Amino acid sequence: MNVTYDFRSYQEVLAMIGSSFPTSAAVFALLALNVSALDTFLAAVYEHAIILPNKAETPVSQEDALLLMNKNIDILEKAITEAAEKGAQIIVTPEDALYGWDFTRETIFPYLENIPDPQVNWIPCQDTHRFGHTPVQTRLSCLAKNNSVYVLVNIGDKKPCNSRDSTCPSNGYYQYNTNVVYDTEGKLVARYHKYHLYSEPQFDVPKKPELVTFNTSFGRFGIFTCFDILFHDPAVTLVEGFQVDTILFPTAWMNVLPLLTAIEFHSAWAMGMRVNLLVANTHHVSLNMTGSGIYAPHSPKVYHYDMETASGKLLLSEVDSHPRVSPAYPAAINWSAYARTIKPFPIQKNTFGGFISRDEFNFTELYESAGNLTVCQKELCCHLSYRMLEKEENEVYVLGAFTGLHGRRRLEYWQVCTMLKCKTANLTTCGQPVETASTRFEMFSLSGTFETKYVFPEVLLSKIHLSPGKFEVLKDGRLVNKNGTSGPILTVSLFGRWYTKDLLYNSGRTSNSARSYLLISILLMITALQNIVMA
Ligand SMILES: *[C@@H]1O[C@H](CO)[C@@H](O)[C@H](O)[C@H]1NC(C)=O
Ligand SMILES: *[C@@H]1O[C@H](CO)[C@@H](O)[C@H](O)[C@H]1NC(C)=O
Ligand SMILES: *[C@@H]1O[C@H](CO)[C@@H](O)[C@H](O)[C@H]1NC(C)=O
Ligand SMILES: *[C@@H]1O[C@H](CO)[C@@H](O)[C@H](O)[C@H]1NC(C)=O
Ligand SMILES: *[C@@H]1O[C@H](CO)[C@@H](O)[C@H](O)[C@H]1NC(C)=O
Ligand SMILES: *[C@@H]1O[C@H](CO)[C@@H](O)[C@H](O)[C@H]1NC(C)=O
Ligand SMILES: *[C@@H]1O[C@H](CO)[C@@H](O)[C@H](O)[C@H]1NC(C)=O
Repeated sequence: MNVTYDFRSYQEVLAMIGSSFPTSAAVFALLALNVSALDTFLAAVYEHAIILPNKAETPVSQEDALLLMNKNIDILEKAITEAAEKGAQIIVTPEDALYGWDFTRETIFPYLENIPDPQVNWIPCQDTHRFGHTPVQTRLSCLAKNNSVYVLVNIGDKKPCNSRDSTCPSNGYYQYNTNVVYDTEGKLVARYHKYHLYSEPQFDVPKKPELVTFNTSFGRFGIFTCFDILFHDPAVTLVEGFQVDTILFPTAWMNVLPLLTAIEFHSAWAMGMRVNLLVANTHHVSLNMTGSGIYAPHSPKVYHYDMETASGKLLLSEVDSHPRVSPAYPAAINWSAYARTIKPFPIQKNTFGGFISRDEFNFTELYESAGNLTVCQKELCCHLSYRMLEKEENEVYVLGAFTGLHGRRRLEYWQVCTMLKCKTANLTTCGQPVETASTRFEMFSLSGTFETKYVFPEVLLSKIHLSPGKFEVLKDGRLVNKNGTSGPILTVSLFGRWYTKDLLYNSGRTSNSARSYLLISILLMITALQNIVMA
């Protein structure tokens, strides 16, 4: 297990110090130091190009379903083995990685296995028949055990229910989008049923959001899936209530510019929540699915975005086991302190309305090559100070503010301040997706009068690149560039979520409102199928 890894590096440091000091002094020096500085682990995530089934109107046989899942597991096996050989202690694989996403309740059924509660203490690799026919769980458990590495995989769970229970589906099973984690012995240590489904008629919503954590010698872990990241439960509660060190996050994320591209939003969430986030996305270029990464609270460690090839990708990075006690841990931020204490810059007369997706923003143009601007919408005022290296004739930037229920579903309350490049020099194109820019900024400072403490700082550069080490958030809530002139900027944003103003915020806390949430979700889903956010 990883203990040997940590122990080895501890001994190496001891040996190093020991060579020039007496041992007792060395031990004393180590104790006096922040020991956590040595306390890291090697994390892996794998972006997987799923082998998809043929589109089927009727269910395939269990044998055919297993055949397809095994083809995908063959590919995951290579990634898991390689990660373990390189010393990884844990690897995350994507949502839907064994079979894709295009199913009805009936056509997904042959892919499902009954997954027991981890409390049963089960090593499927050793005790194969204990819970019936579970070939997928057995193989995954053996992969973890054989390679001595923690493995997270997303699979489908079926739970028999009593037909007299009015919520029990007509086939007699609840069907869940599920993450499982096996430890280095192959033991099932975690099972999480996804709560916030996104256009997934094949799966059921669990009665309550599940708060799933597990402990290892390299920190405490929490789990959720894809769309869950936009909501308070379980995501925020795992970080704040359970004090997890690292979140494992499988996803099938469809990129949406300018604010919700995978690498951009996920790296920002890790910074805003001050937690490690290990993201494994699916790879499917024609659906805009790419973008995985290993994100630390202070900065992205490694990320991958590839719209060119059809290949999967393994990422590895060393991560702090206990980021809260690491010297790099960022200070808490008061997101509105600066914006509330300054005298607002003169409000621009030429403010105009425009759309990002379906959300109506108020925009104002960055007309000069440098300046101080304010734009407001209802309770939210956004301030920007900036100096461009050079104002490009054909590139137009705006400062925008949005506060309100987002999109067509209108369930999530957003507060957003953003500076972005418009698609063309015509101001009616501001907010539309654009992927390239050439304008660099010598200085920018963005802030807003947020009413929420959940704000995620995003910086996205030309050709969909992050900007690690080149920006920071000051304690008073200003998002500023650092270490000199920026790269060419697509957008700089403060993405706020005001959860308590969400429609149905309290859903999931009682089963009645969970049911109404489900009903409303289904109604909204019918109209929301086209795009907006992600899988
Ligand atoms: C794990 O190792 C055992 C014995 O070494 C072998 O029989 C089995 O096929 C391996 N399983 C996997 C999934 O690699
Ligand atoms: C993990 O350890 C903490 C204390 O260190 C404990 O409170 C918590 O219950 C443990 N969690 C699990 C899932 O075992
Ligand atoms: C992918 O993204 C591009 C640009 O952002 C957009 O035009 C296109 O419609 C998206 N494709 C899908 C399938 O959503
Ligand atoms: C944040 O700063 C503002 C302005 O200084 C202050 O009024 C507010 O109380 C602060 N909020 C918190 C949570 O400290
Ligand atoms: C700013 O936004 C509000 C709310 O959407 C809108 O009523 C108002 O007209 C906008 N202001 C301008 C100048 O577009
Ligand atoms: C913006 O404001 C700062 C002080 O708040 C001032 O020093 C600077 O000159 C202003 N910049 C412009 C271009 O007006
Ligand atoms: C900007 O685009 C709008 C909508 O496409 C169009 O009606 C308008 O004429 C354009 N303005 C200019 C100056 O090209």
